[in-house]
Amino acid sequence: MASNERNLSSLKQKFINIELPEDSGLDDSYKSVILREINQILKSQTLERAKHYLGILSRNLANPDWNIKQGINMDLWKGYDHIYTDSLWIMGKRVSNDYHKAWYWGNFVPQIPFQLISRYTEEGEWVLDPFCGSGTTLFEARNLGRNSIGIELNPDIYRKVKESLLSERDNSLYVSEVTNGNSLTYDFTELLAKYDIDGFRLSIVHPPYWDIIKFSDNPDDLSNSPDLEDFVLKLKETIKRMLPAMKPESHIGLVIGDMYRGGEVIPLGFKTMAALQDLGLKLRGIVVKDIQNTKAKRTNENLWRYRALKSGFYVFRHEYIFVFKVMK
Ligand SMILES: C[S@@+](CC[C@H](N)C(=O)[O-])C[C@H]1O[C@@H](n2cnc3c(N)ncnc32)[C@H](O)[C@@H]1O
Repeated sequence: MASNERNLSSLKQKFINIELPEDSGLDDSYKSVILREINQILKSQTLERAKHYLGILSRNLANPDWNIKQGINMDLWKGYDHIYTDSLWIMGKRVSNDYHKAWYWGNFVPQIPFQLISRYTEEGEWVLDPFCGSGTTLFEARNLGRNSIGIELNPDIYRKVKESLLSERDNSLYVSEVTNGNSLTYDFTELLAKYDIDGFRLSIVHPPYWDIIKFSDNPDDLSNSPDLEDFVLKLKETIKRMLPAMKPESHIGLVIGDMYRGGEVIPLGFKTMAALQDLGLKLRGIVVKDIQNTKAKRTNENLWRYRALKSGFYVFRHEYIFVFKVMK
């Protein structure tokens, strides 16, 4: 057994069969926060993730008022050192566990929705993901005690996400729904009536990076946009449709990277950022996040470096998270 696994199981051993006594004097919601964090430790598949939840548990135990799931309490601001406030995010390897299995080509690391959800929402609030893919946002939202809805165009991916959401029994207090649909024409306000909610507090938008990855043959798929202008316009239209369903002062996080085409950089990030500013959204952050090498890139690292040196370009090691505030 690898020493990492040994450490993980000995850490888990300490939490197996822990029960909080009836007469502990703790109130029920605080007890459930503690038990949920213990459950997260037991479910972690890496030592790194288990330690992360142990950190949250320790903070909760040290101060019963501290609860990440309730959003940020500025009276306790020193307790939030795991939440980034700098514009450079070096996130390292993706966290993995039983619900973030990274099976989807083109997914993002769970740390991105973790940061945005923890920072911009409170327990029980609603998160929207109009390009939900494998559902990373939905699983992270559920984990953090938020309600969430994702829209996905590809029916096969939709079915797979739906099944995994159903197979997860914990945290069923919160709604985590995926819908098969086209975000470009979707009536997002219908969701408000359907779930009886007064608006989304956060939308995490991770569209195709134009046609770098072709997600399907469906012409409504943004990765099949015939040209750059069409791609940017369609993304802008999607966000415009989403805005009536967003709460005043809510946030939108756009996750996107750049690309090369015809020997030049196509700055998808800045083009889409400007398009969203045109909608009247207030730009609150331009975050640069490191991209870890995929297996394929690692294997061909020398080849990429050779090509870059020869042709005078730079290998992309970053993507962006543009954070906007919805002004109403
Ligand atoms: C970059 S992926 C999102 C990955 C996701 N964040 C994850 O972690 O798995 C973009 C997704 O948008 C979907 N998509 C493309 N066009 C769409 C549209 N018009 N409406 C809804 N989904 C769309 C694609 O099928 C793809 O799954």
